[in-house]
Amino acid sequence: MTSATQILLIGAGELGTAFLPHLSALPHTHTTVGVRTPEKYSHLSSCTVSVVPLDISGPSEALSQSFSNYDIVISATGFGQSSGTLLKLAKEILNAGLLRRNTNQSRLWFFPWQWGVDYDITGDGQGLMPLFGEQAAVRNLLRAEATQNNIKWTVVSTGIFMSFLFEQFWGVVVREGGGITVRALRNWDHGITVTDVSDIGKILAQIVAGGFDAENTVVYAAGDTVTYKELADIVERAAGQPVEREEWTIPYLEAELAKDPDDQIKKYRLVFARDGVCWDKSGTVNYKHSIPVIDVDTYARKLF
Ligand SMILES: NC(=O)c1ccc[n+]([C@@H]2O[C@H](COP(=O)([O-])OP(=O)(O)OC[C@H]3O[C@@H](n4cnc5c(N)ncnc54)[C@H](OP(=O)(O)O)[C@@H]3O)[C@@H](O)[C@H]2O)c1
Repeated sequence: MTSATQILLIGAGELGTAFLPHLSALPHTHTTVGVRTPEKYSHLSSCTVSVVPLDISGPSEALSQSFSNYDIVISATGFGQSSGTLLKLAKEILNAGLLRRNTNQSRLWFFPWQWGVDYDITGDGQGLMPLFGEQAAVRNLLRAEATQNNIKWTVVSTGIFMSFLFEQFWGVVVREGGGITVRALRNWDHGITVTDVSDIGKILAQIVAGGFDAENTVVYAAGDTVTYKELADIVERAAGQPVEREEWTIPYLEAELAKDPDDQIKKYRLVFARDGVCWDKSGTVNYKHSIPVIDVDTYARKLF
């Protein structure tokens, strides 16, 4: 009997927790969850899941050594990492691949934290989002060095999490008093791709299971891609009441940011008003492989 495929899942927040049931259901696998405070996550342990202490801000040599013990490393550590952490992790993974080669082990499969927009297009958001720029740099590093370092990689572009679209602080779907306002970023025809975190886990598990070719490439997923007009119509139907419609054009978003140049959410909104944040559903892996996912209409009906 061959030994179980060893998966390291780094992080068990909103995303990692949603991944876990899908990963742990895969046959002949064992998932190790690496977090800084394992005692917070003891409830996740089972016969196919262990929780271990791991801090990706630690020294690189030890981390590479540790990563080399796994066949697959999936990053779900969230956005709150300090500058340089994502590139550091990618470099450690590259070294882990070499360590595995030295001991005649197969390639390490890496899923970097890219569960978001198309960072090849957004770049660093014209200087507004250095983190997005770093994510584009991770892609370029993997493209250039993965093969020679005994690494294979998959980037899964998911758009924003479905939950995020409806967050009050995001300011796109806002409930105040008894009323609801829906705001378009850029204009009503501009689009946004969103995927529910559990569906991201479902798609990830199918990729890990070898359901389709995703080697050394960016694959696109989408629970849905909607224009802001479609979003407003969906919310109106789900809530059973008319919504206020407000357009936040790029000049408006720029002027708002100029008032508070350090406001992260204002920067984020401006970047989301530009390109690289939506793609056609027909080109996604979930569409092509008939993986059922929640669309915005279904999600909104549960919310309102
Ligand atoms: N695509 C998107 O829509 C998008 C993009 C950006 C942000 N967001 C928002 O940001 C949040 C993202 O959720 P998430 O699951 O990615 O993150 P999260 O809920 O903040 O969870 C992060 C996880 O990583 C672990 N972690 C953090 N630093 C670590 C380190 N140095 N070493 C090892 N583990 C570490 C944390 O555990 P410990 O603290 O125990 O280590 C935690 O389990 C959501 O609220 C989402 O709405 C979404």
